[in-house]
Amino acid sequence: MVFLSAALLGWACADFRRGPAGDASADGTGERAPIDDPVFENDVYPILQARCQDCHSKGGSGEYTPYVLTGDAKADRAMVVMLVSPSFPEGSLLLLRATGYDHLGGQILSVDDPDYATIQSWISGLPQATCP
Ligand code: HEC
Repeated sequence: MVFLSAALLGWACADFRRGPAGDASADGTGERAPIDDPVFENDVYPILQARCQDCHSKGGSGEYTPYVLTGDAKADRAMVVMLVSPSFPEGSLLLLRATGYDHLGGQILSVDDPDYATIQSWISGLPQATCP
């Protein structure tokens, strides 16, 4: 893990430290146990399903990206968390692509869309990175 963090310095170092204490590597395997996150499951995930899942799921045009939804919010959370930066929510890959920045899927959300605010607020509530 130390090697990985060093190799992927930059915003990646935030990712390995994200998530409530104890989720990552608690058992030494590096596997993240599913986390209870009602805001993600009830508010954010339905937006992603409604607005992204057609393409970002198996068989969709975005199936070969790091962002593939399975329909299981709890299982997908860890993957979505890797696409966001709590210290700079608007700079999250998830929101940049959703607003059309460098995205073959085009602009799905505008920054004044209530769904954008819901996602942004969830991201900013995630634990902040504490890089060394
Ligand atoms: C019309 C189909 C379509 C929709 C709808 C769509 N996307 Fe995409 N998305 C793509 C395709 C195709 C790619 C791969 C090419 C690219 O990176 O633009 C992609 C790539 C991505 C990536 C990966 C970028 C990377 O650099 O690895 C992210 C993140 C993403 N989309 C987020 C979203 C989000 C969030 C939504 C919903 C709010 C969404 N997309 C909706 C088609 C779509």
